[in-house]
Amino acid sequence: MMAHVDTSQAPASADWTVPQDWAAYTPDEHRVWDLLFQRQVELLPGRAAPEFLAGLDMLRLDQPGIPDFAQLSERLMAATGWQVVAVPGLVPDSVFFEHLANRRFVSGRFIRSRDQLDYLQEPDVFHDVFGHVPLLADPVFADYMQAYGKGGLRSMHYGALHKLGRLYWYTVEFGLIHTAAGLRIYGAGIASSSSESLFALNDPSPNRIGFDLKRVMRTDYRIDDYQQTYFVIDSFDQLLRQTLETDFAPLYAQLADQADLPADAILATDQVVSRGTQAHSRGKP
Ligand code: PHE
Ligand code: FE
Repeated sequence: MMAHVDTSQAPASADWTVPQDWAAYTPDEHRVWDLLFQRQVELLPGRAAPEFLAGLDMLRLDQPGIPDFAQLSERLMAATGWQVVAVPGLVPDSVFFEHLANRRFVSGRFIRSRDQLDYLQEPDVFHDVFGHVPLLADPVFADYMQAYGKGGLRSMHYGALHKLGRLYWYTVEFGLIHTAAGLRIYGAGIASSSSESLFALNDPSPNRIGFDLKRVMRTDYRIDDYQQTYFVIDSFDQLLRQTLETDFAPLYAQLADQADLPADAILATDQVVSRGTQAHSRGKP
């Protein structure tokens, strides 16, 4: 039984947050979390960025099962000043950005059912908490997320939310990072999916291209399949500094005149890490 599927879209409060109501989760819902958690914890060493793996300790709370946001927030607050707050589902962009700008990460509170272990349309508590919270414990990434929230609010004044949204997609959700030991995952959409954790690093079909801010903001993406291109950053410091120190307003103006790039494009100016065969046709499970 799913205790946490909300059908109403009306905000319960001005900032759209609702109580997590941790006590209402059923034993089976906690078991689904444990199953997903165990699977990813076994898969990610050697695949996820060291900062992500270090941040996973944040999720090892007093008891197994779905984390209690109050406890989680207490730990996160001590580490980087972030909190996790529950929302009933997707929230309006401005609400989302406003929370990020104030170091609050909004998380779905429902958990997927057993027959949807591998893929679901709307982010659930496993994606939101397992995927996003570990890096919020990293001081540099924590600052990036807050800066992104402020930048999001600003982008709305320029009608450029769509462009900035691609930056989030290709970093926070589907980013890869170079490390001395090789490519690693840091994007939450990858790290919370067992099949995409393998695909993003090992499959020959997608392109892997060095991160370039303007290039990323021109690039379309897929929401219903694995990515055709993953962008690779050099370090979280580089990502934070580059985005923080760049005034995006002139970029938005330039981008308005440039054509969008298809998700599988490769440009002569790209720093190609690996050129994909684009042969994959399995479809995301
Ligand atoms: N510097 C960006 C701007 O001028 C804001 C931003 C910071 C956006 C970090 C994304 C990430 O809008
Ligand atoms: Fe996400």
